[in-house]
Amino acid sequence: MTWTKNSWKNYPIKQQPTYSDEKELNEVLTRLEKLPPLVFAGEVRNLKAKLEKVALKEAFLLQGGDCAESFANFGAVNIRDMFKLLLQMAIVLTFAGGCPIVKIARLAGQFAKPRSADFEELDGVKLPSYRGDIINGFNFSKEAREPDPKRMIEAYYQSATTLNLLRAFAKGGLADLHEVHRWNLGFLKKAELGSKYDELSEKITQALEFMQACGITAANSPSLRETSVYTSHEALLLPYEEALTRVDSLSGEIYDCSAHMLWIGERTRGLDEAHIHFLSGVKNPLGVKIGPSAKADDIKAIAQALNPKNEAGRLNIIIRMGADKIASNLPHIFKELSKEGLNIVYSIDPMHGNTTKAGNFKTREFDKIMQEVKMFFEISMSEGIYPGGVHLEMTGQDVTECTGGASNVTAESLQNRYETQCDPRLNADQALELAFLIADLVKKARKA
Ligand code: PEP
Ligand code: CO
Repeated sequence: MTWTKNSWKNYPIKQQPTYSDEKELNEVLTRLEKLPPLVFAGEVRNLKAKLEKVALKEAFLLQGGDCAESFANFGAVNIRDMFKLLLQMAIVLTFAGGCPIVKIARLAGQFAKPRSADFEELDGVKLPSYRGDIINGFNFSKEAREPDPKRMIEAYYQSATTLNLLRAFAKGGLADLHEVHRWNLGFLKKAELGSKYDELSEKITQALEFMQACGITAANSPSLRETSVYTSHEALLLPYEEALTRVDSLSGEIYDCSAHMLWIGERTRGLDEAHIHFLSGVKNPLGVKIGPSAKADDIKAIAQALNPKNEAGRLNIIIRMGADKIASNLPHIFKELSKEGLNIVYSIDPMHGNTTKAGNFKTREFDKIMQEVKMFFEISMSEGIYPGGVHLEMTGQDVTECTGGASNVTAESLQNRYETQCDPRLNADQALELAFLIADLVKKARKA
């Protein structure tokens, strides 16, 4: 069947809301179709070129951000701190790995959530599950949980203003390497972690002074004062993605202009289903989440469907098996895939296979997260695969959602600042600590 931006409607689809007012839905989509694209195809091509470097083992991918962005927590401080955290982590990784770090935020569009159950029950009341602010409301009430198409417009504008600030930070001075000391978020609880970061900042400052003496300055070398942070989200809500899919006037190619990179979740990656079909027709770099039940053949078939020309930088396979399953499930998959000559960026999402419950809270243990990352690197290296990146749920705020790590969050302290509307995120300290641990692994992988 030939691809058009709405041909996904001919395929079975999972995890979609049912809107009660079809007329209103169509009005919203007509309006969205007329609104400007959020990203420019040229930026998307630049990202693809950078991911190609990852596929060629010359760079490393750092992808991270909220599990679900929310309308209520939208504001400059959250965006700024997420940006600073990404820069801090990237600098730690660059220094150790000696290679460029491709930074992709789960931000400016990460609103729609797949759910394991269609309904949620509380005190005998049963209501439709929360599916992300782009679809329905988080409050446990009948009104809030009704899917409302107008939320797509709000998500669009929130994404636009978030992107505006990200671009301003990236090019307007905040990313200047001379500011490296000031990216610190100020709640480093473990002195050791703080001094590790200070030590690194000091080395960078010295290197910059040396370069300045040699005539290389921020004024004549933009790469010292500017960076690029790309955006990504799960392309779950296909009517929204379709409305933002446009023909690039320069190349004549079709791009989903809601974000630079889109991914397909573990629950919606069925081969003959709507999500794979839709994304097969757009030119953006794509990710696909791979859980513990996958076989090597599934990944080969996904690569055939989404990347038939085997272009490096097009496809990112995101492994998320869980610390308890990765050692038994991943080695034979990688063994088989390493023989195929497929150009794939492999990264690890150590979050989604490690979710547990502590009382009423969904949480994740820092040690399990770290353990899965470590095993991913070990397995990759012994099977001849380059461990190309990490995919994390994190925030620049000092929340208490994951247990353990530098800030020593316990099951009892989860309630103090549990702010996520969906999955538990690493707080800024935990994320930075993880970056230092990953940096050592990247160093080894790059030497191998
Ligand atoms: C997510 O990334 O928030 C998510 C739902 O992941 P997965 O599809 O891997 O479960
Ligand atoms: Co999540």
